[in-house]
Amino acid sequence: MLTIRVNKVSHEIEVDPQTPLLWVLRDHLGLMGTKFSCGTSQCGACTVHIGGQALPSCIVPVGSVANQEITTIEGIFDSTVGQALKRAWIAEDVPQCGYCQTGQIMTAAALLQRSPRVTESDIDAAMARVLCRCGTYLGIRRAILRASKELAQ
Ligand code: FES
Ligand code: FES
Repeated sequence: MLTIRVNKVSHEIEVDPQTPLLWVLRDHLGLMGTKFSCGTSQCGACTVHIGGQALPSCIVPVGSVANQEITTIEGIFDSTVGQALKRAWIAEDVPQCGYCQTGQIMTAAALLQRSPRVTESDIDAAMARVLCRCGTYLGIRRAILRASKELAQ
């Protein structure tokens, strides 16, 4: 048995500690907002926060994150940064198919939680490892700048 804390709730789960965190989130806890795509840490679709850091949950063994604070897309909008990003994403009409957007928002949230005032180059550096097949990169950059301005007020 392992205990994991997700979105401020503790869960006891019976699982092999080598199981990727992504499978536990989706298959054990029913949190389907975190997406599976490459499964090899190449695309960022599965990004969650572990101890405040944006990390690919497809390659993180669940046994390595027992008792750490994990936040998923289902929990991020409880934060000030999450709310600012949600407003900005809507205002900039960012998503197309939507599949990558969990990873984009979670990565953007970690960036703005570290430092709310960001430049375009800060954004490009932080967001580079999250891929979007629909090419929403310019909208994502505009939305993060918008959220950053709101948070700096
Ligand atoms: S599914 Fe995890 S990085 Fe692509
Ligand atoms: S919105 Fe379709 S992959 Fe990014």
